[in-house]
Amino acid sequence: MGQGRAIAALGLVLALAGCGPAAPPPPAAPPPGPKPVASIQELMKILIAPGADTVWKLPPSISEPDAKPKATPEQAAADWAKVEAGALTLAEAANLVAQEGRVAAVAGNKLQDEGQEGNLARDQIDARMKSARPDFLKHALALQTAALKVRAAAAAKNPDALLEAGGEIDEACEACHKQFWYPAPEPAPGANTTTK
Ligand code: HEC
Repeated sequence: MGQGRAIAALGLVLALAGCGPAAPPPPAAPPPGPKPVASIQELMKILIAPGADTVWKLPPSISEPDAKPKATPEQAAADWAKVEAGALTLAEAANLVAQEGRVAAVAGNKLQDEGQEGNLARDQIDARMKSARPDFLKHALALQTAALKVRAAAAAKNPDALLEAGGEIDEACEACHKQFWYPAPEPAPGANTTTK
């Protein structure tokens, strides 16, 4: 190859390689996948509260194992399995609660105790879920962590561990509600408080 042709070829390669002002490629569209559909309120009513009931309202085979008539071993095993499944539901429901893009409630649906003094309105909850998102995620994680403890206690058929972890779930619900649903009144201006 003569030198002139070699240089021309090099020029062609450089041109093809996109030297010069080329438009940046358009951002790749995200692959289609499922999106959040339910509101926080719907998740609370449909998944979270029923999951918590499974963990809190224990059948007699677990809450009073010595009561007569005694549950059969098969019944007791089925009861423990139900608690374990409720705990798993809660643990995964925490992921759904934490998923970005949810609103507090569908327009037109009243919140429980809406309008009661000290309760946030839905748009205030929406704003707070945005402005204090790390806190919201922290509470959802606390719920998941407690739910996994319940699950482990149920898998080990350990009633004491179950009661303790059930109490931790209650605390996780309450902590999130206190910040995002019915918060304590704002501290007086100038009060020296730090939020953790
Ligand atoms: C990460 C935050 C968070 C956690 C954790 C959480 N909740 Fe909620 N919950 C909310 C918010 C925000 C509302 C207020 C909006 C609403 O009413 O749905 C709410 C409302 C509710 C409501 C009222 C629903 C309605 O009809 O308005 C119930 C019942 C409820 N939660 C149950 C629970 C239980 C039980 C747990 C624990 C097992 C729990 N929540 C844990 C955020 C949370």
